[in-house]
Amino acid sequence: RGAASKGFANMAQKIIIDTDPGQDDAVAILLALASPELDLLGLTIVAGNVPLDRTLQNALTICELARRPDLPVHAGCDRPLRGALVTAEHVHGASGLDGIELPVPRMLPAPGHAVDFLVETLRREPAGSITLVAIGPLTNLATAFERAPDIAARVARIVLMGGAWSELGNVTPAAEFNIHVDPEAAARIFASGAEIVVLPLDATHKALTSRDCTATMRETGPVGRAVASWTSFYERFDQAKYGREGAPLHDPCAVAWLIQPELFSGHRVNVEIETEGRFTRGMTVVDWWAVTDRPSNALFIRDLDRDGLFRLLSTRLASLDRNPAP
Ligand code: BDR
Ligand code: CA
Repeated sequence: RGAASKGFANMAQKIIIDTDPGQDDAVAILLALASPELDLLGLTIVAGNVPLDRTLQNALTICELARRPDLPVHAGCDRPLRGALVTAEHVHGASGLDGIELPVPRMLPAPGHAVDFLVETLRREPAGSITLVAIGPLTNLATAFERAPDIAARVARIVLMGGAWSELGNVTPAAEFNIHVDPEAAARIFASGAEIVVLPLDATHKALTSRDCTATMRETGPVGRAVASWTSFYERFDQAKYGREGAPLHDPCAVAWLIQPELFSGHRVNVEIETEGRFTRGMTVVDWWAVTDRPSNALFIRDLDRDGLFRLLSTRLASLDRNPAP
């Protein structure tokens, strides 16, 4: 098992990552596995960047790359609460994890649906002890909260990558991908009363890889090589779209916030999810200037220390390549 079980368990924060891997999801999962501050209880998988069968297979591939075939990986919802699934092969490639050829995973998914795993784990562990890190569409979380309304109050907090304020949409002019795929689920989560930390595009578009950082990672070993290949793959898409160098490491920001929150800054605000708008469905309506009297329901991050973030990432990911196989 990872560092969290080798003596740090008492101080480690227990987390579950809900994810749709995705290259940046992969980096987020690896960062969590490399960090003794976090005790990763399992992955719950959702359809998003690619359909569920692919996101599930990618999650297993990532666990094997990190030499963690023991980590429970539960398949979850294969479509949003309403309407058809929207995917992003144009960004992430047909597999969702294009960029490097990795062995077909031998480990199997854990038995039981992701939603059941979320409900059972949150009910079993002490209230307030588990943080949910949500880095895909929020379908699994919303389904769990609907099925078991008591669990919202048992969550320590939800740290999610999604939405935008000043950077607005990356899929439609108004909506960011994770919220766009399942606005109804997002609306339920933001109305749930759980403590929420949001890592929106405003922040994650500042978490851009650099040539130096990618070159250094490529040399550390199999994990570093995979990460460098993944980020180089999807950098092309962002470069063509935004005309700037570097791949935005959206999802790792959510994990990094838990490890070093001092790298980030934001405000507590009210966030509502637009589920109806003809042009704005999936938009996060952020009351940044407090112009309404709607109560705050989230800490909304807008800035980060890019150098600090990449120092954290490269040291932690390199440690996965240094640790001998168990
Ligand atoms: C989000 O959408 C996905 O493509 C990424 O994995 C990230 O979670 C960014 O909008
Ligand atoms: Ca994701």
